Amino acid sequence: MQATPFLMPTKVTVLNNGPLRVEGEFIVVDAAGAEFGLAGRTTIGFCRCGLSENKPFCDGSHGRQGFQSTCEARELPPPKPKV
Ligand code: FES
Repeated sequence: MQATPFLMPTKVTVLNNGPLRVEGEFIVVDAAGAEFGLAGRTTIGFCRCGLSENKPFCDGSHGRQGFQSTCEARELPPPKPKV
């Protein structure tokens, strides 16, 4: 697997049994495009268990509820062409 040569890539880590941890330079917007205020954070955990009371952010509920998911890196198929 060959990494894409970004100068400062934003890193997304799929944590075992937990959130998606995003690190680097990024913004978070809602469906209407309004930006969340992140108070200078450069690392955020996004809920992927569906149990957070603070979606889209992780609030630790995954651990209390026993969420289990382990994802190993893999190659995705090419995207389908848009018609
Ligand atoms: S992944 Fe942490 S609360 Fe859902």
